[in-house]
Amino acid sequence: MRGIALLLLLLLPACGSDAPFDLTGWTTYGGDAGSHQYSTLDQITPANVHRLEVAWTYHTGDARADDRSQIQCNPLIVDGTLYGTSPGLKLFALDAATGTERWVFDPFEGEDDGPGPLGVNRGVVYWADGPDRRILFTAGSWLYAIDAATGRPVSSFGTGGRVSLKEGLGRNADDLFVIANTPGALYRDLLILGSRVSENADAAPGHLRAYDVRTGALVWRFHTIPQPGEFGYDTWPEDAYTYIGGANAWAGMTVDPDRGWVFVPTGSAAFDFWGGNRKGQNLFANTLLALDAATGRRIWHVQIVRHDLWDRDLPAPPNLVTVTHGGRRIDAVAQITKSGHVFLLDRETGESLFPVEEIPVPPSDLRGEAAWPTQILPTKPPPFARQVFTEDLITDRTPEAHAAVRSRWAQVRSGGPFTPPSTQGTVIFPGFDGGGEWGGAAFDPETGWLYVNSNEMPWILTMVDLAPTEENRAPGARLYAANCAVCHGADRAGDTAGVIPSLRDLGDRLQPSDVAQILRRGQGVMPAFGHLTPAETEALIAFLFDPEAAHAPPADPPEAPALTDPRAVPYSHTGYNRFLDPDGYPAVKPPWGTLNAIDLNRGTLVWQVPLGEFEELTAQGLPKTGTENYGGPVVTAGGLVFIGASKDEYFRAFDKTTGEELWKVKLPAGGYATPATYALDGKQYVVIAAGGGKMGTPSGDAYVAFALPD
Ligand code: HEC
Repeated sequence: MRGIALLLLLLLPACGSDAPFDLTGWTTYGGDAGSHQYSTLDQITPANVHRLEVAWTYHTGDARADDRSQIQCNPLIVDGTLYGTSPGLKLFALDAATGTERWVFDPFEGEDDGPGPLGVNRGVVYWADGPDRRILFTAGSWLYAIDAATGRPVSSFGTGGRVSLKEGLGRNADDLFVIANTPGALYRDLLILGSRVSENADAAPGHLRAYDVRTGALVWRFHTIPQPGEFGYDTWPEDAYTYIGGANAWAGMTVDPDRGWVFVPTGSAAFDFWGGNRKGQNLFANTLLALDAATGRRIWHVQIVRHDLWDRDLPAPPNLVTVTHGGRRIDAVAQITKSGHVFLLDRETGESLFPVEEIPVPPSDLRGEAAWPTQILPTKPPPFARQVFTEDLITDRTPEAHAAVRSRWAQVRSGGPFTPPSTQGTVIFPGFDGGGEWGGAAFDPETGWLYVNSNEMPWILTMVDLAPTEENRAPGARLYAANCAVCHGADRAGDTAGVIPSLRDLGDRLQPSDVAQILRRGQGVMPAFGHLTPAETEALIAFLFDPEAAHAPPADPPEAPALTDPRAVPYSHTGYNRFLDPDGYPAVKPPWGTLNAIDLNRGTLVWQVPLGEFEELTAQGLPKTGTENYGGPVVTAGGLVFIGASKDEYFRAFDKTTGEELWKVKLPAGGYATPATYALDGKQYVVIAAGGGKMGTPSGDAYVAFALPD
């Protein structure tokens, strides 16, 4: 069957590269350099998948008791060894057949890092040159080179085996937040790396960097916020390159080794939701960049969102695909978006294979803002998530839920994808976490189908005018509104999912000096605020420990932030708030989470099925709703799509042709990570990290591998 299909491909007029796929290993994040999330392995099939058993479970031992840790890692398997990372950002090596630990490297050893380390880690990079074998991995603001055999830092790399991500940005970032969650991409002896930076006015620039894998030396840098004389400089105010940050590539990247090109998706410029100090189209934010991997020279670019005001980062590396289009085989890249679209672009030129429409979008009514008048959308394939939260989509789960959501819905703006942020509240749908997210899409080269999981959660973005009011006249209160309310809430109550703690009654559990340390160093997914001056930190802490006193009029009443000062952002927002009904379910009618199969040859949605379930709702007789989900799919030649991701903590296998759910197993904690599959001694394994800690579910510390019984 497969032989015939291959033969047919060979008979088609050649243009694309249909080299036979041999992806039996999992030596790169996402499976291979082309981000296929595909495996040639076919031992596990729709006929036998129900017989899968746990082959081994490895416990990292460092999940946090307060359920604020996660594992988002897609592990690597090289020569029988599995490399992964723990909730505490330790790097470890296991025997991939048994799960037996070989070594552990703790980047924070000997440091007092409080209750948790800095951020999450989605994977690592393996590089080898003969006996010199290294794991490149990031933790906090550091890039490490670790000896793959021993787990010890490679002392000739950088200083003592590491380089600081705060250096080499061409701007002083010592006090700014610069980390990297997602591994970089390897091209020969270069590691090309993006970053995660703040979403606010204090963001470091998101420039791309390439490091020499042997020495850690910086080889090239690409300015995602162009400087004078560089292409795209005129899409910003004159001096923006000195003060605007973001436009960072946090989602990983894809390499085409034959062309020697790297494809880099970027995120929005910061501050995310008000761009009055970055008027213009803002190249290369929200852009898919094709660069010469050896030099960083730009080959082509497609900006997917202009002057982004919605945090519409490109959330995943594009898949390298070869499709049949107009009777020809064409090499392309497929880029998924948070809005639920797939842009299918000719790999050589960046031109869209299907027509792209330019549509007019509404203006902003925020002070000083100038929303870009048009945006682009592909006409095919159709979006894999609904696009507008219209009245008829209001939940009808119960009459009470419907009534409550209806009245909130009527207060806010829900006009569709490009409705600008407002102080009234603007519905973001699909939400801040997609549509598509960092788990990315899986591509099946046999069929040309793309598999992508999606969220259909509405969120409400409410902007806050920072002009002084009765409430925020004191400096501490204003600093809080400008820097902290986005996460901890305007009322300091934290979020309902328990990920962001309440800051009320802080004095009961923390000293001012503890808070000063958290602000200086960051903690968990909370960024550091090292750039606040000592006086600002003091005012902020005074406010947190005694909010009432802080309402007393200051001796020196503040002025409204002047719109002429490009660094002063006159708006903040009330946080990243899901639009839920009173019982905590999404405010919209199901589906709330889906798995989709898209035929890239035809530009059609072949099937869409719910991903995940609320068992208590199914018991009431509701069809499966799907749940919010994080972490991506893997498709195999055996005929299956494997995915965890769902809030119900199951790991599932679907029939890749029909979308039928064939198998599921409860994990020890939510599997919010992309699985990997590999074979050893004739046996196929599928492994997934179960780290939980998202959407209010408990944290876990397990990697679980499954295989068929002997
Ligand atoms: C991007 C979201 C985000 C922002 C912005 C943010 N925080 Fe946090 N904050 C968190 C999270 C998440 C935690 C929990 C960290 C952990 O322990 O893993 C936290 C924890 C804290 C804690 C410890 C609370 C406790 O009970 O242990 C304090 C204090 C705190 N934040 C203060 C602030 C202040 C002050 C600001 C503004 C300058 C701020 N945060 C901005 C997300 C944020």
